Amino acid sequence: MIRLLAALLLLALPANAADFSEAERAALLRHGPWPLPIERDDSNRLSGSTAAIQFGQALFFDAKLSAKGDMSCATCHQPARRYSDHEKGRGEFLRNAPTLLDIRWNRWFGWDGAQDNLWSQSLRPLLSAAEMAATPKLIADHIRKDEGLSCRYRAATGSAPEADDDVVAVMASKALAAFQETLVSGPAPFDAFRADLAANRTSSLNEAAQQGAKLFVGKGQCAICHIGPGFTNREFHDIGVPYLLRPGLVDPGRHLGLRRLGESKLTRLGPFSDDPARESVTTRHVTLLHRNWGEFRVPSLRNLVGTAPYMHNGSKATLRDTVLHYSELNEERLHADGERLLKPLNLSDQEIDALVAFLEALSGPAPAEPTALPACKP
Ligand code: HEC
Ligand code: HEC
Repeated sequence: MIRLLAALLLLALPANAADFSEAERAALLRHGPWPLPIERDDSNRLSGSTAAIQFGQALFFDAKLSAKGDMSCATCHQPARRYSDHEKGRGEFLRNAPTLLDIRWNRWFGWDGAQDNLWSQSLRPLLSAAEMAATPKLIADHIRKDEGLSCRYRAATGSAPEADDDVVAVMASKALAAFQETLVSGPAPFDAFRADLAANRTSSLNEAAQQGAKLFVGKGQCAICHIGPGFTNREFHDIGVPYLLRPGLVDPGRHLGLRRLGESKLTRLGPFSDDPARESVTTRHVTLLHRNWGEFRVPSLRNLVGTAPYMHNGSKATLRDTVLHYSELNEERLHADGERLLKPLNLSDQEIDALVAFLEALSGPAPAEPTALPACKP
């Protein structure tokens, strides 16, 4: 009886920084500090401008930008749900709407990386037949006719919305991007734990999550892909999530994303980019390869609490289901060359709980909804 009590007491006590090996400590410290440095987007001349952020916020909640007038960005990216929704799949390939928090640090946009910048990613749902189904003309006409929006357009861009429809629509998407750049998540329990680890202090993070931390950088090998302060290597992998939509139709993932990127005029290299020196284009490996079939972007693991379901197709309802995916991995589903490192982890119930507790510790408090906009004075 006394031994049982002692064991229970031990479980309840916070673990000591000394319980982590030097290798574990070094691996965990790599996941911070948070937030990452804030930099302007050179491809978007409206990036960081207050007037553009306000214009973008007004657009984000405006259902008149959709063909039927019934859908805004916030329909699928709901502020109260960390800018995601609870639907399983939306749009052309029935994909899960990701959170928009911390989107400013993405390198690629969309689960398939079909966009290399935030403004073209913001125009895509406006024009997509399966989403808002607008046209550049509908967008431009609405902005011209709406007094508030045309005032905000002028304040943000310095000219009236009289340029041709395509230019007005791209400007609107750049303002939408400027607004979304303000959606940054605050510190999570993990960040306090990491600071304690760095200072060799005892952490108050619960024991299960601390055990999960060890698994995350150790046996689970999660940190191979979910690395860095954002918990993503910002690349694409196939982890065996089924991508068959219905018999005969698959979601090609990165393979289609790269083809679309190649055809797009709205890239960092294209004529609508504001960075004439193309300095924002870092060397990016974008050769289309067979292995890109069925690859999807490694998502950030911040903000998982409240953004269920998970995976590109929303096929996992809970965090426990995502961990079970790795525990019971179906190796026959893996077909890309690089993923041979993934093996079924065969985790115990206790290890599964620990990993779930760790994943939960990566979410800070949900951000407040945006405040009402001040009126625009011409
Ligand atoms: C009908 C639902 C829906 C609407 C409306 C919608 N989105 Fe999305 N959004 C999605 C889905 C689904 C994805 C994932 C798409 C993909 O990977 O192909 C997505 C992806 C994104 C991404 C990329 C996220 C990432 O992690 O790469 C951004 C940014 C975004 N949407 C912004 C917007 C903006 C801005 C609007 C309004 C102009 C908007 N969305 C309207 C469903 C929607
Ligand atoms: C080989 C790279 C790789 C490894 C290793 C890896 N992941 Fe992932 N992870 C991904 C990719 C890619 C996705 C998205 C897959 C998809 O949607 O088809 C993902 C998705 C997820 C999601 C869903 C997030 C969301 O917002 O939908 C969670 C949670 C997750 N991983 C946790 C883990 C954990 C825990 C481990 C270790 C047990 C791990 N991952 C190991 C690449 C990896």
